[in-house]
Amino acid sequence: MTIFITGASRGIGKFLFEKFSTENAKVFGTYHSENQELGKDKRFFRLDVTSFEEVSKISEIIKGEIERLVLINCAGNNYNSFAHKASHTEWKNVIDTNLTGTFNVIRAFLPLMREQNYGRIINFASVVAETGIPGTSAYAASKAGLWGMTRSMAVENASKGITVNNFNLGYFDIGMINEVSEEYQKIVKQKIPSGKFGDPANIYNAVKFVIEADYMTGSSLDINGGIY
Ligand SMILES: NC(=O)c1ccc[n+]([C@@H]2O[C@H](COP(=O)([O-])OP(=O)(O)OC[C@H]3O[C@@H](n4cnc5c(N)ncnc54)[C@H](OP(=O)(O)O)[C@@H]3O)[C@@H](O)[C@H]2O)c1
Repeated sequence: MTIFITGASRGIGKFLFEKFSTENAKVFGTYHSENQELGKDKRFFRLDVTSFEEVSKISEIIKGEIERLVLINCAGNNYNSFAHKASHTEWKNVIDTNLTGTFNVIRAFLPLMREQNYGRIINFASVVAETGIPGTSAYAASKAGLWGMTRSMAVENASKGITVNNFNLGYFDIGMINEVSEEYQKIVKQKIPSGKFGDPANIYNAVKFVIEADYMTGSSLDINGGIY
């Protein structure tokens, strides 16, 4: 099995990279910002997911090593602004990264998955796309876009042993949440029945479930602690 994780330099992607590296799988990861340590690690590639050319080059480099590919699309970014004040450039960058970037990575690896009659594609959506949180129009649009894209790709590739699914994540004790103010974190916790953010081990376990579940495709798995 080969596991390819985008956005593996930080947060959830890094957590998954480390967990799967202890297992019997070949794991590759990507980072985006300059990172001298990861730059020396042969398992890592520097990638801007907005560039289809870059991801195509990486897929060419590693294709000979790929067997039963699990593609985990963790790379993502955020931009907070009320719509009436939003910068077009920043807004578009979120769509380009979270939605088109996810498409670019899938597009680069799909032909090989179809040739090998196997694939597991996991996209990272968010509860933010369904709850209507002020300032998140770009992020919410990018994540909601993944639902439609996932459904369509799932149907296109079902006969080729490939499943395509989303995780609709709630709030986890890792990654992006650290950029949110403590005040807002308190407000969010009031909407989570257990009153705490999620342990990322839940996401790891869900990936393992998706790998095993060949009949689950086109789905969105809510992993959110019952947030309301
Ligand atoms: N954490 C949560 O509670 C939560 C909740 C809901 C959904 N999610 C989703 O889960 C995913 C991971 O979240 P996280 O909290 O772990 O995020 P994070 O800590 O902010 O990490 C984001 C990762 O994406 C990479 N990245 C950003 N822009 C990129 C680009 N243009 N090309 C390639 N890579 C890029 C970053 O690379 P560099 O650091 O190298 O720049 C980093 O590795 C995201 O899609 C996020 O929207 C997270």
